[in-house]
Amino acid sequence: MIQHCLRSQDWSRPTLEQMFAVTDRYKKSPIGNLANNKIMCSLFYEPSTRTRLSFESAWLRLGGQVIGTDNAGEFSSAIKGESLEDSIRVISGYTDLIVLRHGLNNAAERAAAVSAVPIINAGCGAGQHPTQSLTDLYTIQNRLGRIDDIKVAIVGDLQYGRTARSLAYLLTKFENITIYFVSTPSLQIGADITDYLASKSVKFYMMDSLEGVLEKVDVVYQTRFQKERHEFSTDGYADLSLTVDRAMHLKEHAIILHPLPRNYEIAVEVDALRNAAYFEQAKNSLYVRMALLDSMLG
Ligand code: NCD
Repeated sequence: MIQHCLRSQDWSRPTLEQMFAVTDRYKKSPIGNLANNKIMCSLFYEPSTRTRLSFESAWLRLGGQVIGTDNAGEFSSAIKGESLEDSIRVISGYTDLIVLRHGLNNAAERAAAVSAVPIINAGCGAGQHPTQSLTDLYTIQNRLGRIDDIKVAIVGDLQYGRTARSLAYLLTKFENITIYFVSTPSLQIGADITDYLASKSVKFYMMDSLEGVLEKVDVVYQTRFQKERHEFSTDGYADLSLTVDRAMHLKEHAIILHPLPRNYEIAVEVDALRNAAYFEQAKNSLYVRMALLDSMLG
């Protein structure tokens, strides 16, 4: 059976722990040969900086070669009316693994259903972005020394933000987690996630302001207003932004994460605080993706 990477809830805790141990190794020495003579295709129908380049760098560092297209919606046969399924059937004949980003929530599942090679979901619509949540968790472990017994505020556009959703799923693998979902009412996290958390007995609260939350948490996970996915106004949204004044309420050890790109939801002055961990998180994504590819190749 082909091993795909489609949804973050599919990883078990032992698999995550194993992958993070391998990530530590690649962080010390980012080189390998498991992808020798293998070709990865990065197939991106939506914009990307970190995800595409860190996947490509990870694959090259493992000794492989990369083909692909960004803006695949315009530069591939999609513009001629080819279905995603037909494109994947063809591309999977040319490559050993496909990293896919697409505008549809279920694109990775659709691709996996017809692909002859592993599919990695590199962010699909407002659905999931599992490899980002791996990076998020690894950074939490790295900075705090643990993932159990933590309180996490997930802030921003939670209705359309795929990284927030994947992170919530993945946090259920750990013990004694409390999640504060902070958003405006129209952009709060969906019932599919809250039902899932309830089924796993994870404590969560829905909040519409950061007040009283920042002083409680170990992690603030800030996200961007997904303006390309809906037409809601940003009115009221700015109230959720993290300024230096607000960050002063954080515990000393607490960390601030963001999948990036950032708009105004974290003030640039916050970058100088010890709590800011988002650029470190972006850097970690290379080693995490090396470890993920390693596990899929091995
Ligand atoms: C995120 C994405 O594409 O979902 N970016 C990323 O991959 N690091 C977040 C976003 O676009 O807001």
